[in-house]
Amino acid sequence: MTMQDTRPIRIDLVSDTATRPTPGMRRAMAEAPVGDEQRDEDPSVNALTARVAELLGQEEAIFLPSGTMCNQIALAVHCRPGDEIIAAENAHIVTSEGAGSAVFASSVIRPIHSERGIFSGREVAAFARGAYAKAPRTRVVAVEQTNNRGGGSVWPLETLSEVVTVASELKLVLHMDGARLLNAVVATGISARQYASPFDSVWLDLSKGLGCPVGGVLAGSAAFIREADVWKHRFGGAMRQAGILAAAGLYALDNHVDRLAEDHANARLFGALIGALPGIKLDSPEIETNLVFFDVEGTGKRTPEIAERLLRQGIRIGVEGPTRMRAVTHLDVDEAGIREAAAALAAATAERVSA
Ligand SMILES: Cc1ncc(COP(=O)(O)O)c(C=O)c1O
Repeated sequence: MTMQDTRPIRIDLVSDTATRPTPGMRRAMAEAPVGDEQRDEDPSVNALTARVAELLGQEEAIFLPSGTMCNQIALAVHCRPGDEIIAAENAHIVTSEGAGSAVFASSVIRPIHSERGIFSGREVAAFARGAYAKAPRTRVVAVEQTNNRGGGSVWPLETLSEVVTVASELKLVLHMDGARLLNAVVATGISARQYASPFDSVWLDLSKGLGCPVGGVLAGSAAFIREADVWKHRFGGAMRQAGILAAAGLYALDNHVDRLAEDHANARLFGALIGALPGIKLDSPEIETNLVFFDVEGTGKRTPEIAERLLRQGIRIGVEGPTRMRAVTHLDVDEAGIREAAAALAAATAERVSA
């Protein structure tokens, strides 16, 4: 572990995982009925998994400690050694899970290049291997809704349906990383069920925009969930009185979904404010949900210097590379915070602008 910066942060745009449980959520957690979840006896966990399965149009669901574990367990259930997974090259399973699919699913990922993390049915058909016996077996198509590193981009339902159709024709398994699926739902008004029900596995993260401290919920068929449960135990992810965490999830589904629209409005506002600054270029002028990626090369400054200057004012924006940054809006940053962060960024980048 690296030494952490312990300076107090007032406006934290580093990720939507920065949220702290609200007083209402903490009350719900404190009052949660609990039992032994490893024995399926925790009423709050059972209520949460039933609710998420229904929401996503799936038979059953399982409560897991993290989104990464949702992805890794799903891939481990779907794949056999030597299989191949098709995914966008910027997907979390490609960039940020320690090559877990190689370790747990004994499978490789065949990445598709895509700026916004969205690919077509035609690309799936082109990337799926044929029947050549010496090729890996193409097994899974994994999509990320919304796509994080694509700038919180929303998979249009038609594109998703086209991918589903092609994958089904080719007898491929469909997995959805729905870490921010509910952001897509709120941005478009299309239901979670419409996006998720054609998928063989799909999950929601509780600890991002929904504001919970811990957890993801993975859904699929009853047979899939039975196998996922074995992997959960194998990973040491089976818990005991986990209802205290599941209660936060239930509270969030009741209280924190519609308000994601505020995060989207704040992201658009931040984009509009900083997109107008000299030397700053937004990855995309269209900010669909709660993630804003931008490049500062034209300011003549490097990101560590900018980030350090902001941190001294208690403001944190993510560093993605020498000139690229990411700001993520969430329920712990309000409009005033967004305006202050944008003004601080303007000051931090103002002194010298390259031609
Ligand atoms: C798209 C996506 N998938 C998966 C994850 C992993 O979730 P967790 O941090 O809960 O393991 C993240 C986290 O940032 C993510 O953005």
